[in-house]
Amino acid sequence: MDDLDAKNRKKIVVAMCGASGAVYGIRLIRALMAVPVEVYLVISAAGRAILAHEAGFAHKSMVDFLKDHSMACHAGATLVELDPDDGFASIASGSFRHQGMVIAPCSMNTMAAAAAGITDNLIHRAADVCLKEGRPLILVPRETPLSVIHLQNMLRLARAGAVILPSSPGFYMNPRTIEDLVDGVVARILDRLGFHHDIAPRWSGPEA
Ligand SMILES: Cc1cc2nc3c(=O)[nH]c(=O)nc-3n(C[C@H](O)[C@H](O)[C@H](O)COP(=O)(O)O)c2cc1C
Repeated sequence: MDDLDAKNRKKIVVAMCGASGAVYGIRLIRALMAVPVEVYLVISAAGRAILAHEAGFAHKSMVDFLKDHSMACHAGATLVELDPDDGFASIASGSFRHQGMVIAPCSMNTMAAAAAGITDNLIHRAADVCLKEGRPLILVPRETPLSVIHLQNMLRLARAGAVILPSSPGFYMNPRTIEDLVDGVVARILDRLGFHHDIAPRWSGPEA
């Protein structure tokens, strides 16, 4: 890859919160790292605890975790891991240009902070910056059932330009494994980010 390619590489922010569904964030990072892209990853303290509980994450970094799981990385892909308490990080500023932020999984706590414009950690601040700069912001909640407060927060965010993309897998493609279900959700996230991919089959109608 030459310098021009490096400059044109997509930059994507991924945040993982303390909601169930760490596997969605992991799968998203794996899919992104298979192409030449810069991923800026922030994991909240609760997100780290859920990662440990649901995925056996006991590593210093996501890079180490992915290496341990023998994940293939594109030579032009980089993963930059940021501290959720680092208010000086690149993604805290609107002048740092990127092509979108995904919060997967997204807790109701972080959903509420984003809906209220509260920015007391780097994930909240980066989400707030996406909204003010008009950049794609995709929130992937797992919570069920949803209270009126949750629904109001989601509506507020959708009206502000965010995409609420619940981790609700479809069954119409006859998934066989948990991986198929997860891939179906991650495929919708990649679609919204504008990536070409074939990680899940697409419906092409009964005429196909
Ligand atoms: C095992 C476990 C599962 C949880 N699952 C969810 C969930 O699915 N959705 C949610 O909103 N909160 C969930 N929580 C609660 C959040 O972790 C908690 O609200 C936390 O403060 C979120 O912080 P964060 O937004 O900074 O990540 C869960 C907590 C635990 C311990």
